[in-house]
Amino acid sequence: GSAGCILAIETSCDETSVAIVRNGTEVLANVVSSQIETHQKFGGVVPEVASRKHVETITRIIEQAVDKSGVKLGDLSAIAVTQGPGLIGALLVGVVAAKSLAYSLQLPLIGVHHIAGHIYANQLVHKLEYPLITLVVSGGHTELVHSEAPGKFRIIGQTRDDAAGEAYDKVARALHLPYPGGPHIDRLAHEADAAITMPRAWLEPDSYDFSFSGLKSAVLSALNQANMKGIKLEPSHVARGFQESVIEVLVEKAIRAVKEFGAKQLLLAGGVAANRGLRTMLAERCEKAGIPLLAPPLSLCTDNAAMIAAAAFLKWEQGKFSSLDLKAESSLSL
Ligand code: KG4
Ligand code: ZN
Repeated sequence: GSAGCILAIETSCDETSVAIVRNGTEVLANVVSSQIETHQKFGGVVPEVASRKHVETITRIIEQAVDKSGVKLGDLSAIAVTQGPGLIGALLVGVVAAKSLAYSLQLPLIGVHHIAGHIYANQLVHKLEYPLITLVVSGGHTELVHSEAPGKFRIIGQTRDDAAGEAYDKVARALHLPYPGGPHIDRLAHEADAAITMPRAWLEPDSYDFSFSGLKSAVLSALNQANMKGIKLEPSHVARGFQESVIEVLVEKAIRAVKEFGAKQLLLAGGVAANRGLRTMLAERCEKAGIPLLAPPLSLCTDNAAMIAAAAFLKWEQGKFSSLDLKAESSLSL
């Protein structure tokens, strides 16, 4: 096939996505079919429902991506898929579809770690320079990752309880905002004319770990106490206070990691990387500290298959292929 044309599949959570990317950078198609509407009435993702929806849509999404890309199946060089972590039933649908394509088209199969995908979403739009630090903030993950070379990852800090996006979604739920709540809190925080100050979880002075469950509890208890006194807290003030607390800790630790590890770049990745407040504050702090900050465009921050193709391209170049007995793993390590 033509050089490095990879078809990638992502089904780890509630998005069915198929992309075709040439040479790790040229996105020929990136079709994302979201199940959000289906899960909204439950207030969160229901694993069995997600799995069934992926089964219903995957074939159509593959066809759409191929049509849109203008690429012939015979021109593909590899099939990539998110192997984990994620919801096991959801991951299985993508893995089985990828294996079937790889087998029938006689192409190599490449299993990709979901977080490697989020990190390499940056590669679709930026030139990466190592060593680098990535702040990964999504619905399931909050991690500071040190990479000394392409394809190498070392987690230097992570959340000890809730992921940042999870905290956003739980606080949003308490404010009666629709799922997923992150974008709504972001908007409210932006509109707010004041903030209710919330605690910050710094943990031990040298730690790169995070904790957001205490903050979430603080928000819920502030809402409850106001409720008992018959006062209504202004939702935008709550949102601003919560967001400031999350962002300040994320930014502070990310900048400290870049300095300590002598990183050439700071990358932002994951769904919460779409957060306006986070992007603005990181940009300001990086500018002051002379640190180059890279972030994907908003459409490549949340789950999509183009980022999986970008991560797979590195493996393809290195000839790191998976066998046809590749297994979906819900808690695959990076
Ligand atoms: O990366 P992603 O699409 O899925 C996971 O791998 O988890 O991230 C989804 C998460 C959700 O928790 C959502 O509320 C959050 O990203 N999110 C945001 C924003 N946009 C999405 N959180 C804060 N501000 C946003 N603008
Ligand atoms: Zn994700």
